[in-house]
Amino acid sequence: MSKKILILPGDGIGIEIVTEAVKVLEYLLKSEGLAIELEQGLIGGSAYEAHGAPLPAATLELAQQADAVLLGAVGGPQWEALDRPLRPEQGLLQIRAGLGLFANLRPAVLFPQLADASTLKPEVVAGLDIMIVRELTGGIYFGQPRGIHTDENGLKVGVNTLVYNEAEIERIARVAFTIASKRGKRVCSVDKANVLESSELWRQTVITASKSFADIALSHMYVDNAAMQLVKAPKQFDVMVTGNMFGDILSDAAAMLTGSIGMLPSASLDADGKGMYEPIHGSAPDIAGKGVANPLAAILSVAMMMRYSLDLPAVAKRIDAAVAAVLDNKLRTADIFSPGSKQVGTAEMGDAVLAALQNQ
Ligand code: IPM
Ligand code: MG
Repeated sequence: MSKKILILPGDGIGIEIVTEAVKVLEYLLKSEGLAIELEQGLIGGSAYEAHGAPLPAATLELAQQADAVLLGAVGGPQWEALDRPLRPEQGLLQIRAGLGLFANLRPAVLFPQLADASTLKPEVVAGLDIMIVRELTGGIYFGQPRGIHTDENGLKVGVNTLVYNEAEIERIARVAFTIASKRGKRVCSVDKANVLESSELWRQTVITASKSFADIALSHMYVDNAAMQLVKAPKQFDVMVTGNMFGDILSDAAAMLTGSIGMLPSASLDADGKGMYEPIHGSAPDIAGKGVANPLAAILSVAMMMRYSLDLPAVAKRIDAAVAAVLDNKLRTADIFSPGSKQVGTAEMGDAVLAALQNQ
């Protein structure tokens, strides 16, 4: 039976960048003779417009049947006033939960060609290669109770719950240790164990899980210090593992070290390696439809898909090499532009990656 990839462009620039990623994907399937079918679905605001829900049942079903999902981005100002369950972001949270995608891998890698694009000094970021492993289906994003109610004094109260059980912590820790064992063999676990009980359990459980990974050096850092260290001396990190909300925040900070969030892909994996792949950046409504967004994060997300869900590391390398070649040729979208390079739009960048693949 041939494999299936579900394409979910979503909203805003998601639509433009996924078009480029699909161009690359279709070319690779053909040139590598891979029997993989592509299907399309709706998620986010566009799904709400068509079906009244940010994750229609039909989309979740397609995703459950697919071997991997490629997602663009969701959200836009026109949907911000909707009731929370109808907002585009809920579609993303629901598909993560619905597919059991508990392990979110967010690499922050600096392409040497883009050292100038970082706001940090080149010597601070040159050679940067961090993997943030973020827990994605638990913690304060999903904890109960939650909601807004009125207390006995008539004051409105907003409640969210930061909760982790040891099984959730252990499985994400094991993912981090396994990834570290294939690279720098160092894991820094980020928590707030000086204040939060859930972090105290996090730290104890990570330590226990580390016992079966003898070759990994485990360290611990409080999240406030981790944020500071990321901008002060980011190269000290190899793999970082952390909970859902800390990971959300730290991964945006780490992304910016590389010059542009427009360059970074991510993978969200279940226990069996099935995954959803998406750029870290959002739907960027301010530039949507203008053809200026950077499609490289979406294209690099296809590379991660090849690596983690389709077991095609050689194809992933082809994509990485094609992106490097395009950057060597000094093509840049607006977000990574620097004087002396050539500014191109979304489609031109996608075409350039395609041409680089054809020239390999
Ligand atoms: C991310 C995003 C999402 C998150 C939002 C859009 C729900 O910020 O993937 O990092 O907070 O997880
Ligand atoms: Mg985020």
